[in-house]
Amino acid sequence: MNATGERPSRLLGDDHEELDQRFEEFRSTPSSESGRRNELFDRFAADLRRHISVEERLLFPVFGEGDPAHRVLVDRMLDEHRRIEDVLQRIHLRLEAGPASTEEMEVELLNVLWTHNAREEEAVYPWFDTHLSPDLVRSVHRELHETETKSDLT
Ligand SMILES: [Fe+2]
Ligand SMILES: [Fe+2]
Repeated sequence: MNATGERPSRLLGDDHEELDQRFEEFRSTPSSESGRRNELFDRFAADLRRHISVEERLLFPVFGEGDPAHRVLVDRMLDEHRRIEDVLQRIHLRLEAGPASTEEMEVELLNVLWTHNAREEEAVYPWFDTHLSPDLVRSVHRELHETETKSDLT
């Protein structure tokens, strides 16, 4: 199967995995390497924000359209995105202030992400495999792929 023919659920699930790996890379870097830690965090945060942006701009509007149960789920996803963004900002501010432990906030983020990603993969992403236009799948693929290309260059 070529890249654009890849199932959206697979594409998005793989992106979750890549984001998990990026976050793990940041977490496993010792605080003595604060410059590297900040860089890894900023890259992870940028990729996660892009993933969230693809969901909110391209996918959730289609999913929520015409189905009240889906809309309830979308509201929940959006609420979790705001919580994710809130922790991302707090970690960023702490790192910016100088070398410091962000362990507590990292665990907080891991917990929100774990629940959120599992919910999306179980209750939302499979629907995309049979309901998205080929154009939309291509757009999702392109935007997620741009992320990888950009990150590889830095
Ligand atoms: Fe999400
Ligand atoms: Fe997601």
